[in-house]
Amino acid sequence: MAERYVFASGKGGVGKSSVALGLARCMNEKGLRVLLADFDIGLRSLDLMLGVTETVVFDWGDVVLGRCSIKDAVINIGNLAFFPAPPEYDEKFTPEALSQLFSALESDFDFIFIDAPAGLGRGFDLACSQAENAVVVTTPDSVCVRSCACAALRLRKSGKEKISLIINRFVEKPVVKHRLLNIDDCIDAVSAKLIGVVPEDRAITESSVTGKQPDKNSPASKAFARISLRMNGERVPLFED
Ligand SMILES: Nc1ncnc2c1ncn2[C@@H]1O[C@H](COP(=O)(O)OP(=O)(O)O)[C@@H](O)[C@H]1O
Ligand SMILES: [Mg+2]
Repeated sequence: MAERYVFASGKGGVGKSSVALGLARCMNEKGLRVLLADFDIGLRSLDLMLGVTETVVFDWGDVVLGRCSIKDAVINIGNLAFFPAPPEYDEKFTPEALSQLFSALESDFDFIFIDAPAGLGRGFDLACSQAENAVVVTTPDSVCVRSCACAALRLRKSGKEKISLIINRFVEKPVVKHRLLNIDDCIDAVSAKLIGVVPEDRAITESSVTGKQPDKNSPASKAFARISLRMNGERVPLFED
C-alpha cells in the first residue's frame, strides 16, 4: 500500500511543487514507485517542470468525470507516474470521489505525492483529504513561515498522522545578517518535525523552466536525496558534512 503525502504551504511560490518533484525523483532512483499528482486545479505547473506539457491530454478530473480511464490520464516519465491537474474545478471533485480513485491506484505505488495548491481553500482541503501524512514547505521568511504555520495547524486539526517540515531556498548569509529567520525560528513557529533544509539553487530554477532534471550533484538535489532517505527511515544528517 502506498504511503501518501500531501505537500502544502499556505503561501504559493515557496517550492512545494519543486520539492515534491525532487523527492519523487529521488525515490524513483532507489527503485521506489511514485505517483506524483498535481492538485493545483486551474494553475497546474508540474507538467511544465517535468517537460511533458505537450503530452498532457487527460487529467485526473477527466477520470473522476468518467471521460477517460486512469491509464489514459497517468503519464509515465521513466519510472515516475504523473497525474496532471484539471484546468478547472468541478463539484464532482469530492473527497469521496478522489478517495475511490486513489484507492484503485494504491497497490501500484510505494508513495503517492499530492502537490497541494496555495491558500487554505477548498483545493487545499481536497488535496489534504487524500493523504494521511503531510510535508509542509516554507521559505525562511516571516510571511511564508506564518502561512506555513497556519497550514500545519489546519493539517493537525484534520488528524494527519505525521506532519514534517522542509525549509526551502535557504541561504546562509542573510540569516547571519538577520534578514531572514534561522532554522530554529522556523521550527518553533511551525511546530513540525524538520526533515530537511534545501538550499537556494539555480539548478532548480533552471530545471523548472527547461523541464529537465537538475544535476544530481547540485546542492538542492543532494538535499532532496538526504530528505528522501530520512522519509524512508534512515538516519541521515540534515546537512552534508
Ligand atoms: N531551492 C530552490 N532554489 C531556487 N529556486 C527554487 C527553489 N525551490 C523552488 N524554486 C523556484 O521557485 C519558484 C516557485 O517554486 P514552486 O515549486 O512552483 O513553488 P510552489 O509550488 O510552492 O508554488 C519556481 O520558479 C522554482 O524553480
Ligand atoms: Mg506548486
